[in-house]
Amino acid sequence: MKPFSYANPTRILFGEGQIAAIAKQIPESARVLVTYGGGSIKANGVYDQVMKALAGRAVAEFGGIEPNPRYETMLRAAETARAEKSGFILAVGGGSVIDGSKFLAAALKYEGPEPWDLVTGKAKIKGALPLGVVLTLPATGSESNCGAVITNQGQGAKLAFGHPALYPAFAVLDPETTRSLPPRQVANGVADAFVHVMEQYLTVPAGGMVQDAYAEALLRTLIAVGPKTLADPADKEARANLMWAANQALNGLIAVGVPQDWATHMIGHELTALYGVDHARSLTIVLPAMMRVRAAAKRAKLLQYAERVWDLRDGPEDARIGIAIERTEAFFRSLGLPVRLADAQLAPEAVPAVVANLKAHGMTALGEDRAVTPEVAEKVLAAAM
Ligand code: NZQ
Ligand code: ZN
Repeated sequence: MKPFSYANPTRILFGEGQIAAIAKQIPESARVLVTYGGGSIKANGVYDQVMKALAGRAVAEFGGIEPNPRYETMLRAAETARAEKSGFILAVGGGSVIDGSKFLAAALKYEGPEPWDLVTGKAKIKGALPLGVVLTLPATGSESNCGAVITNQGQGAKLAFGHPALYPAFAVLDPETTRSLPPRQVANGVADAFVHVMEQYLTVPAGGMVQDAYAEALLRTLIAVGPKTLADPADKEARANLMWAANQALNGLIAVGVPQDWATHMIGHELTALYGVDHARSLTIVLPAMMRVRAAAKRAKLLQYAERVWDLRDGPEDARIGIAIERTEAFFRSLGLPVRLADAQLAPEAVPAVVANLKAHGMTALGEDRAVTPEVAEKVLAAAM
């Protein structure tokens, strides 16, 4: 294990009715900008709960943040925030609203000519407005990490960026807010969280016993509660465990001191930027192919995954690895998710287009060993055909 320091500054308020507690988390004098998406929070009562909790405060709002939040939209949000002299952002929604709001928080402290430079890294993030979160979709873990992914529609680019100033100050996780999720979003959330764990776990052994065992517990939990949540929306226990697992999958804890991969995500982001594939669905297409193409480099961890996540202890090693990959794929399929490009109506032409975009974005040495070059990415995509 490499040396690390760990201190996640996001305070979690978990459980039914916790939205009422946000008033105590936001300074009384702060002018609050409530950010949200396409309106699901108005249909399911979350908006009303938030506004009730903020009664008597100076509150403005910015709605209409789309899935895969756009740079162009968030520049409009910045205009609203400046006009309203907002001093605190409250993001109410899923990963897209939270990520868009993280960009907004950084953009409001930026004085240069081109805020997109904050995303590409050309300009350094030096600070951010304080941000709180009311989460309505368990998936990304964005509610307690300091990363975000923003799409520049004009450039056809979907890029990830991050900075410690972007950790939310607090995040409300009330599983009841997820009751209104359509099955597609529940399935997406389970898969996204699952792949987050895999990106931090399926690398090479690094002696992180706690990190490994915790990652395996999260994977087993997601395998158990994902289908239950889909089958029975009233299953509160499954729903609560899904929300907690998705949060823990990407709050940084299982990544400390161990290598990380993220090649599946970087390839997936290009599929989303080019073809609008849902984030999680881009991952379920790429991950099984990635596991097959990279089986030699990941052999030790694949065997551990087969044994501890899928209970595969007997038989030849290669067979165990093969079955573990098939089980992973079958799990995604059982959630109604695509595992091949064709399942998402993508033609073979997508392969060179994604590879060209990876090159254009400097994504030429991905993975824990930087061995996923554009040539390897091409092999992975070919294996997903
Ligand atoms: O916009 P509204 O009307 O709210 O509807 C949303 C949206 O259409 C809907 N939804 C959310 N909560 C709901 C609900 N519908 C009914 N009831 C509720 N309770 O769900 C749809 C999808 O929302 P979105 O926020 O886009 O989904 P998700 O949370 O999966 O976020 C995906 C985004 O996060 C990025 C992805 O790339 C993508 O842009 N990611 C962010 C990460 C991070 N910051 O750490 C890591 C991830 O790997 C990921 O890349
Ligand atoms: Zn993800």
